[in-house]
Amino acid sequence: MRTPLVIGNWKMHGLQADARALASAVREGFKRKVAVTIAVCPPFTALPAVAEVLAGSVIALGAQNCHPEPSGAHTGEISVPMLAELGCRYVLVGHSERRKEMGETDEQINRKVQAVLTHGLTPVLCVGETGDERRQGLTFTTIEGQLRAGLAGLGPEAVGKLVFAYEPVWAIGTGVNATPGQAAEVHGYLRGILSELSSKETAQATSILYGGSVKADNAESLLTEPEIDGALIGGASLKAPEFIAIVKKAVAAPAAAREGSR
Ligand code: PGA
Repeated sequence: MRTPLVIGNWKMHGLQADARALASAVREGFKRKVAVTIAVCPPFTALPAVAEVLAGSVIALGAQNCHPEPSGAHTGEISVPMLAELGCRYVLVGHSERRKEMGETDEQINRKVQAVLTHGLTPVLCVGETGDERRQGLTFTTIEGQLRAGLAGLGPEAVGKLVFAYEPVWAIGTGVNATPGQAAEVHGYLRGILSELSSKETAQATSILYGGSVKADNAESLLTEPEIDGALIGGASLKAPEFIAIVKKAVAAPAAAREGSR
């Protein structure tokens, strides 16, 4: 019912030539439409080059951040209309690296979510607990707080327009992924809150991605978990063959899940 979505988050990697080469290689991997939505989020400076390479392909473009205002005196910032003009369809909002390194607050994240929706793009709202929070039994408290604050002021219909990513901070870039069971538990919990904030039907139709050390060799076990609707991939999205292999696991996931449940 939910089309899997796989998003590559290139973070602060790649000069224009690198970005072009990576985007071309990913494009080559998917000459035809597959039953998975694929997107890549290059650094801002590479967006025009990657947009050009991906034009007419099945791969969508996304950005890693945005400013909540459409324009104004905000030195060094990039607005959602600027991203829309370049053809971005997705914007990552509230990634843990921005929460931690830039001190992004839930209130700022909420304003960004609203801005992205206002301009017709899809926010990918990222939530996740730190290792300490998990050890202290605060996983659900943390992610619930982040989710509710990120969605503050949104009506049921608007809530249904987002994509969510559960990214445990302890799993990002560490090589230690959450187990499918750990992720499924959190995804189910998030879906419960979404159902309360929108409706059961909307929550059932909403994509919740898992992110944190997803690689080609662990993608199948994660993506065949029914609660996991796709992946947000950092490090492994920088190598085209690895990224392509993960997307292929997502394509095969529904059938693999059926096999497993027999
Ligand atoms: P990772 O990053 O795949 O390198 O762990 C995921 C993310 O930060 O989105």
